[in-house]
Amino acid sequence: MKIFGKIKNMSTDLKEKQPNESVNINNKATLEYQGQKLELPVVTGTENEQAIDISKLRAETGLITLDNGYVNTGSCQSAITFIDGEKGILRYRGIDIEELAERSNFVEVAYLLIYGKLPSKEELEQFSTGLTNHSLLHEDMIHFFAGYPSTAHPMAILSSMTGSLAAYYNDNPQEQTEESLNLDLIRLLSKLRTIACFSYKKSIGQPLIYPNNKLSYCSNIMSMMFAVPTEEYYIDDEIVKVMNQLLILHADHEQNCSTSTVRMVQSSGASIYACMSAGISALWGPLHGGANQAVLEMLKQIHDSGMNYKDFLKEVKDKKSKIRLMGFGHRVYKNFDPRAKILRKACDRVLDKLGVSDPLLEIAKGLEEEALKDPYFVERKLYPNVDFYSGIIYSALGIPVDMFTVMFALGRLPGWLAHWKEQYNFDKKKICRPRQVYTGASLNPYIPLRDR
Ligand code: ACO
Repeated sequence: MKIFGKIKNMSTDLKEKQPNESVNINNKATLEYQGQKLELPVVTGTENEQAIDISKLRAETGLITLDNGYVNTGSCQSAITFIDGEKGILRYRGIDIEELAERSNFVEVAYLLIYGKLPSKEELEQFSTGLTNHSLLHEDMIHFFAGYPSTAHPMAILSSMTGSLAAYYNDNPQEQTEESLNLDLIRLLSKLRTIACFSYKKSIGQPLIYPNNKLSYCSNIMSMMFAVPTEEYYIDDEIVKVMNQLLILHADHEQNCSTSTVRMVQSSGASIYACMSAGISALWGPLHGGANQAVLEMLKQIHDSGMNYKDFLKEVKDKKSKIRLMGFGHRVYKNFDPRAKILRKACDRVLDKLGVSDPLLEIAKGLEEEALKDPYFVERKLYPNVDFYSGIIYSALGIPVDMFTVMFALGRLPGWLAHWKEQYNFDKKKICRPRQVYTGASLNPYIPLRDR
């Protein structure tokens, strides 16, 4: 492939600034326990968020910290994405998400996240050409699709096919060069899109549509999913813009479950393909990326049962029901999710453009309006998150429900790659290995089978 040389010459410095270079460690916190006092450094990030560095705690006191769900745990220092959950701020490499969603496109944002700066015209062209030239899968991999049952969830296909890429590319993590690493990043960004679209075509029994080098990244997604060999496929600019926005809004979200998984797997030195496959698996769960599918299923259920959405909210508030209002609430955003605001507007625009009147959108708007004035949701600071409206847009674009999380994975991929790269380059990195507080049985004798 010609692009090898070009990638080598890209100003894509893998040895970026270390994320711990810009933190201030002047303050100290004092921990007192059983008469022993320990001074712990307080690390301050560029936006003044503070963290007590407990890395010497166990060595000096024998104590560890316990933090279910890592609610208070900073697992790393990172220079990629900033979130202020109270103020509803999300920035990639310092640039506001609203600005990126309005003025940029997904490929440029991917470059920004991975390489830490907006690309020059030439860098963007080289990066885009790399994505264009690496979109094909090894033809042997095409046979894999036939082996999956037609009922297979496309996330199962995406995660296993992504892991399988390691079998095709010489990816010894210990022998990587800057060129080979850049190539892996490009391959993943380009080939995962192809895998995702092929898995959809297989599930509906249509011929695979290969990527078209004349099309942009997002137009190719639309074409590979919706074109058929027998007729011309027209791609609407407005729809491509919305697809870009959806992917940009999902592109990174600092140390969420799937990104932390990617970093954790990377810390063991595993292949980049294995790391991305692990990230995809983590994203699949309904409390994370699977929420967009769960939202649409919830809206459909309300619609099909003829239930009033106010009654549905009563059920949600009844703790015994164990029902959650999917697409509401977020571990970090406690005021509003800026991504949801952008998508709410995009949703109206797309439905208008396509002339679709979706009763599920009306139910979603009703639920949102009602929940935002209900003390249950207000007191718990529960607001619509990015997934509340994304599913309605995907549906309007003709994307089936079980592909929603796949679309999320395509969007999140640059974020995973950026975090993978940051972790890979961190000069003080350690294998991630949390501790535990053991609560099982104390020493037990082994009882032979005949005596049990
Ligand atoms: N519906 C009803 N009640 C909720 C919801 C919800 N969606 N979310 C939280 N709560 C309630 C909890 O029951 C709990 O109430 P309690 O204090 O009376 O026990 C309180 O709010 C706090 O909830 P936690 O689960 O402790 O909050 P946490 O930060 O751990 O969870 C999460 C965040 C997982 C996103 C949660 O809000 C949720 O399950 N939401 C629905 C699923 C969803 O939309 N996930 C997508 C997240 S965005 C993303 O991954 C891209």
